[in-house]
Amino acid sequence: MKLRLDKYLAEMGIGTRSEVKKGIRKRLAQVNGQIVCQPEYKVDTEEDRVSYAGAVVSYVRMEYYMLYKPSGIISASEDAREPCVVDLIQSRQRRDLFPVGRLDRDTEGLLLITNDGALAHRLLAPNRHVDKVYYARIRGRVTQEDVELFHRGVEIGEEKPTLPAELSILRAGEESEILLTIREGKFHQVKRMFRAVGKEVLYLKRLRMGTLSLDDTLKPGEYRALKKSELDLLC
Ligand code: URA
Repeated sequence: MKLRLDKYLAEMGIGTRSEVKKGIRKRLAQVNGQIVCQPEYKVDTEEDRVSYAGAVVSYVRMEYYMLYKPSGIISASEDAREPCVVDLIQSRQRRDLFPVGRLDRDTEGLLLITNDGALAHRLLAPNRHVDKVYYARIRGRVTQEDVELFHRGVEIGEEKPTLPAELSILRAGEESEILLTIREGKFHQVKRMFRAVGKEVLYLKRLRMGTLSLDDTLKPGEYRALKKSELDLLC
């Protein structure tokens, strides 16, 4: 792929487009060992060897990470006031990573972080009905009636009731534990579904999205690159 030198360097996180333009004009960039002073110079991302300020800058077109999102952090690419999920991916090379979908600040679990917009669209498009599996602890006794209601669809204040969802009760008591599979991604959907049946979500963790399951060796805040097999299945 051919790419302008300033875009190449900015995409690889060397600086903003205007910062790298300045640097290139100050003779900091080299292509195949030759100083290049034109920001518009076209680099071949597969063939050319680019360096900046003496360090080699290799090109990565797509990055894919599985993050175990911890509670207390927002699902955003950047925020002026507080750190967000993308900031946890310290080994990232690209600056244009984003989370595929959002988990609430207090929700934990699987979050895919990438710069692949087409994949994100396929996973999030409402008509694709990609499964999302959650584990939750619920205040109140979750009953067989809730299982049936969730299967039929519940009113959560949207135009239509929710699509059929599978609720499995792991433990029922004053506090219950459940697994829930939903095929939509409405704002606060799981919490609103339980509210609709008079119960409260105390803890929520996403375990799976489509074919991608949270690696159980990860701890909250940890991440790893997706394996090729995981990516092939998702795509
Ligand atoms: N449903 C919710 O209520 N919150 C989340 O973070 C995800 C699904």
